[in-house]
Amino acid sequence: MKANIAVLPGDGIGPEVTQAGVEVLKRVAELFGHAFSFSEAAIGGSAIDQCGDPLPAATLALCEQSDAILLGAVGGPKWSDPNARVRPEQGLLKLRQTLGLYANLRPVKPIEALLDFGPIKPERLRGVDLLVVRELTGGIYFGERTRTATSASDLCTYTVAEIERVTRVAGHAAMARRRHITSIDKANVLETSRLWRSTVERLLTEEFPQVRFEHQLVDSAAMHLIARPASFDVILTENLFGDILTDEASMLAASLGMLPSASMGASGPGLFEPIHGSAPDIAGRKIANPIGTILSTAMLLRLGLKLEAEALAVERAVDRALKLGLRTADLSGAHSTEDATAMIISCLHAHRPSKTEESCA
Ligand code: IPM
Ligand code: MG
Repeated sequence: MKANIAVLPGDGIGPEVTQAGVEVLKRVAELFGHAFSFSEAAIGGSAIDQCGDPLPAATLALCEQSDAILLGAVGGPKWSDPNARVRPEQGLLKLRQTLGLYANLRPVKPIEALLDFGPIKPERLRGVDLLVVRELTGGIYFGERTRTATSASDLCTYTVAEIERVTRVAGHAAMARRRHITSIDKANVLETSRLWRSTVERLLTEEFPQVRFEHQLVDSAAMHLIARPASFDVILTENLFGDILTDEASMLAASLGMLPSASMGASGPGLFEPIHGSAPDIAGRKIANPIGTILSTAMLLRLGLKLEAEALAVERAVDRALKLGLRTADLSGAHSTEDATAMIISCLHAHRPSKTEESCA
């Protein structure tokens, strides 16, 4: 198939990891006979430097015309002045909002070869396979903000329609998985959470009678995520809680550098990006873990281009390379971004490799 892929490297380690993702997609195209074309555009701090706008009109136009978007990360100390008029993150938020990407899917499945590498005891990690469905275009991220010399406010609003549409995404996801949803809110304090809870309950009961669901308060959910992570199947939550809980959940997968994400709307291209940030402390050193981005390309293939076999091939290549010893610095190893990408690419096959196969090349 032919596909136009917009590539938005962004800031910090963004360009290093998106380059890895593009190399993997090019190899997939070769192996499976597709014609992918890649066009780069600026976003975030580097776009502010170029033209004063974190989401230039040309970037938005390119994204709107593309079949899928691969993004690195945005932000960094250079643009973090609290008095700055524009911030890199505004570019990403505006992109998500303009494209209507209201559902952010963040799967968390620890990889066998890495069970001993993270901060959580390996026995807790067995059987962990969860999907966070994070609402992405509403809530406190997009409410009105005020600021005076002595006070500030951020408004959190949710509408029934916003809650319903993301709940439907979670419902469909749960039907294809273990049919269980944990909806996470703070209904003992927040009015938006009480609306969230009653809307989720009504919609799931009416439209997904086969899905079992429960509600958890975000504070205790944060604890359960570490204490008994295998008990979760689909987690459904609002924008800010989803942001926080997915960084926490990345510790189940050994490193923040491992987790991919897909942001989807009702129509139009999806946006695929690792959940990590721009990691200014290691930017330019070529040691960033590219796996979060490479697994995001698998989600791009599966959800953006409907290429399931290709997506599986990428996921298997990552598994296999890790089994063979791929370890970047965040996994206490010495492989560079380039080494790691090359190892994954050498493990990439159009057909499932035989069980007896020992090496990847
Ligand atoms: C994420 C990031 C973004 C968010 C930032 C960069 C605006 O943390 O994708 O999780 O908060 O959504
Ligand atoms: Mg985040």
